[in-house]
Amino acid sequence: MKDILTLGIESSCDETSVSVVKNGREVLSNSINSQIKIHEKYGGVVPEIASRNHVEAISNVTKDALEEAQVSFQDIDVISCTYGPGLVGALLVGLSYGKALSYALEKPLVGVNHIQGHIAANYISHPELKPPFLCLVISGGHTHLIHIKDYTHFEILGKTRDDAIGEAFDKIARVVGLGYPGGPKVDKLAKEGQPTIKLPKTHFENLDFSFSGIKTAIINLHHKDPNINKADLCCSFEHLVAEILIENTLKAADILNIKTIALAGGVSANSYIRQEFLKLEQTKGKKIYYPDPILCTDNAAMIASAGYYNFLAGNVSGLNLNAIPNLKIS
Ligand code: KG4
Ligand code: ZN
Repeated sequence: MKDILTLGIESSCDETSVSVVKNGREVLSNSINSQIKIHEKYGGVVPEIASRNHVEAISNVTKDALEEAQVSFQDIDVISCTYGPGLVGALLVGLSYGKALSYALEKPLVGVNHIQGHIAANYISHPELKPPFLCLVISGGHTHLIHIKDYTHFEILGKTRDDAIGEAFDKIARVVGLGYPGGPKVDKLAKEGQPTIKLPKTHFENLDFSFSGIKTAIINLHHKDPNINKADLCCSFEHLVAEILIENTLKAADILNIKTIALAGGVSANSYIRQEFLKLEQTKGKKIYYPDPILCTDNAAMIASAGYYNFLAGNVSGLNLNAIPNLKIS
């Protein structure tokens, strides 16, 4: 069978990324232009600034991706881009660019759900991984437990009722003065602390999550005592959220009678969460997967991989495809 080269384009938040992936699994290039430095001084992503920077970056990022992969536009078989969920202005930049390429090069366009992209990051890091499996998507915008029935069919089993887990990491980091983006900084500081601070645990009968109560408790503790040990606070937070994530994931795995569990999304780069999930291989006989750190946070290789599987399933988009900021996965 002829190799299929997919050009992936990702611009849903503050990373402009373009990638070339062969047969959905082999990354030939994954060029990422992060705007973290630009948004850092505002303490979070400013949507309008993000859109403008995507416009400025996208041509050069694409050029870099093609050069690194040592291919030309003509060698590409499929153009896949994120069309949601995300910031509408940011999404429109990558999507419009992808549509223009698809039209000019006469190559099929495949729209990709960003969450499907995060899941597909695991296919790149683990060539042996195939559906069905259970995936816990934990990122800045999402906390979803998803049954991956096959490459393009998903069922959401549980999700957050309020904040995404990454939002909680970022907010806590801001409150204790670590800056943006908070996740990696909380991860680092937590290693110096002990889980000694009691935080409230929200529990639902079903597989949903809630993180706003924990976040508020931490903000209040810090306001009451600004000298509270920040490392202990970060460590206690990580311990509690890992416990909650594992509880719900195991419950879902039991219901589905599934052994294979994958983590995905920016927060799956967290070293404590990874370590605790990995223990389930010994203690519960599960098989745990998570992507390489660079593929956990936003990147276009994961979009190219998901685009490849959508293409194989015949899910090709028209040039009337629009950005959908609150796109759901199904
Ligand atoms: O997947 P992602 O790049 O964007 C979304 O699709 O939302 O995730 C970004 C989130 C941010 O909240 C960031 O703080 C968090 O992932 N993050 C981490 C770590 N690295 C990134 N959270 C905890 N520990 C980390 N090491
Ligand atoms: Zn993401």
